[in-house]
Amino acid sequence: MTPQPNVFPDPGALAESAANRIAGAAASSVSQRDRFAVGLAGGSTPRQLYRTLAEEPWRSRIPWERTHVYWSDERCVPPDDPQSNYAMAQETLLSAVELPPDSIHRIQGELPQDEAVAAYADELFDSFTDFPPRLDVVLLGLGADGHTASLFPDSPQLAERERLVVPTRSPEPPHERISLSLRTLNAARCVIFLVTGEEKADALRRVLERRDGSLPAARIQPIDGEVCWLVDREAAGELSI
Ligand code: 6PG
Repeated sequence: MTPQPNVFPDPGALAESAANRIAGAAASSVSQRDRFAVGLAGGSTPRQLYRTLAEEPWRSRIPWERTHVYWSDERCVPPDDPQSNYAMAQETLLSAVELPPDSIHRIQGELPQDEAVAAYADELFDSFTDFPPRLDVVLLGLGADGHTASLFPDSPQLAERERLVVPTRSPEPPHERISLSLRTLNAARCVIFLVTGEEKADALRRVLERRDGSLPAARIQPIDGEVCWLVDREAAGELSI
């Protein structure tokens, strides 16, 4: 079934809605499992959401002491590199909230790519009781080419059925990336796409209305979970709704 996008007048309204959904999922996860495992997206779109979560009222509404933070993907760069997804989250959110240090499950982009992939897969395996590991919420963005996380069109990693984490190659630098696999992404309880800007309108239409399976974002179909699309008016500009 084609998920119906939630269209917002601007990125600020979208961030507030996303924060509300995350707070709800966190409360439910903590009450059921005494922990909340969230996978953060990279890129620039999530910046506003992370800043929103770092401020009241949302900062007080998230049970940070029971929250474990993961990433959907990372660039193969050091954690203090301006291109690092960890660095962006640290700047906009993690530096403002009290998280136990062992609750931050950083992808070690400074390591050689295959070592970083193996280390992150071990971290996921060790920090979840279920297999494949089920993140409570995964945040994802959408590239203009239909990529999501660091899964790019026509890449062999789209056929991966076993591995939890995969090495990938981005057409844009930094070329070497580390990404959760489709297997792990589709094990999530809830996937929230955050999409803003006119440059995403064609990819969003192809994913939501044409269900174009050549686009990695169209392959995000959680086995036992929900997907919600939070988009602004510019990104929704080519949808027929
Ligand atoms: C990354 C992200 C990537 C991102 C999209 C959208 O590491 O860059 O994982 O998938 O979400 O490229 O990026 P923007 O939010 O910057 O448009």
